[in-house]
Amino acid sequence: MNRTLIWDLPTRLFHWTLAGSFALAWLTSEGDRWRSIHVFLGYLMLGLVLFRLVWGFAGSHFSRFSSFWFGPRAAADYLKQVIKRQAPRHIGHNPTGSLAIYLLLALVVVIGITGILTLGADEQHGLATAWFGFDQARYIKKLHELFATLMLLLVGVHLAGVVVESLLHKENLARSMLTGFKQAAADTPKTTSRALVAALLLLAMLGFGFWWFSYAIANQVDRQPELSQTQRPVETEPHVKFVGKQLPDNRQWRDECGSCHAVFYPALLPARSWQKIMAEQDKHFGTDLGFDKATSDAILKFMVDNAAENHAVEAAFKIDRSIPAKTTPLRITETPYWIRKHREITGSDWANPLVKSKSNCAACHTDADAGTFEDGAMQIPDAPAKAASAPTPNAAKP
Ligand code: HEC
Ligand code: HEC
Repeated sequence: MNRTLIWDLPTRLFHWTLAGSFALAWLTSEGDRWRSIHVFLGYLMLGLVLFRLVWGFAGSHFSRFSSFWFGPRAAADYLKQVIKRQAPRHIGHNPTGSLAIYLLLALVVVIGITGILTLGADEQHGLATAWFGFDQARYIKKLHELFATLMLLLVGVHLAGVVVESLLHKENLARSMLTGFKQAAADTPKTTSRALVAALLLLAMLGFGFWWFSYAIANQVDRQPELSQTQRPVETEPHVKFVGKQLPDNRQWRDECGSCHAVFYPALLPARSWQKIMAEQDKHFGTDLGFDKATSDAILKFMVDNAAENHAVEAAFKIDRSIPAKTTPLRITETPYWIRKHREITGSDWANPLVKSKSNCAACHTDADAGTFEDGAMQIPDAPAKAASAPTPNAAKP
């Protein structure tokens, strides 16, 4: 028995990057704040599996599929032998472990694809933008989560297998996946480290990471450009604005409805609400809009054409779905979805002089003007005390 190289460098790099990426992707899966990292890891894992498929043919002996191409029957037999503690030692992957590997690879592909579909449906972003609507997004997302949970379970099984196998044959399998070496007989097929391929793989990953995060940072919303990097509230970064599709605009609507308050994009209320608002324009929240018929009609047409029922953005779909059919809300801030989404905002955030009113959407949604209300474009402004202590260029002005 000699200390022999079994796992070439690319295989080990693949293994640990995939393991780390999956763990990180799991940790960044909740909420929107880490979405950019989560999505990056998803693409990275898909790329890694693609590489592994090639390496299953082009790699060194023990990395090739041909060296661990066992059927389910062999996997079951091996498991039985393990239970009886009679399982023979395999230098490469054993039959049961191989099955787990193929399942893990397949799961990464399925999770990656459902992830891309979720991103396309839920955020209308990425490769599958607009393939599905928001109503289907829920189901696709559930599938994505289901497969990810399956993968977590399988990773658990894989880890248990590594432990059992290590105990059974008194060798540290995790360490050999790190160093690449195992004790093996002299006639074991030769493995070379293939460092050049590993270097290229690493370079490709770094290049992709660099490209992705420059893209992410370029799309980052800077709410407080006057603050220096160090003064910036840490919790707002890295916050990528996943820019959704651009919604139709209308000059006249913007001018007329934007003269007293920032415009509320039509997608935020159903058509019947806009019709009622225009029908009651003489008592519009205590004021009289006083538009002539031509103006009213033109504005109303634009609003009805782009009302919530169109489901042009996620917010539209969810607001529309939350409003009971019999009611006609005149305020966005009174729709059940809006109330639900803003329930957790604290009193001090509402009292912030940068916010003041619930209808001041743009204070927290940097894309309010465009009407998209993307998750990544939401940033509650910093608390007044902190904002006041920061030297802003406007501070001296009255
Ligand atoms: C003359 C000034 C004025 C103009 C012009 C105006 N509004 Fe308003 N609007 C108000 C006031 C005042 C409020 C109440 C603000 C508050 O209570 O927060 C309001 C509130 C609203 C709200 C409720 C916001 C919420 O809390 O969800 C909507 C929706 C709205 N306006 C739509 C429109 C539309 C559509 C137009 C153009 C057709 C328009 N407004 C033009 C004065 C105006
Ligand atoms: C004080 C800051 C603040 C103001 C003002 C505010 N929002 Fe929000 N908004 C939030 C926060 C925080 C969330 C929660 C995001 C989450 O749940 O991930 C949110 C979520 C939303 C969402 C859901 C986005 C999503 O899909 O996660 C919509 C739509 C929305 N707001 C619309 C509005 C509209 C319309 C207005 C103005 C009438 C408004 N908001 C005013 C802070 C604010």
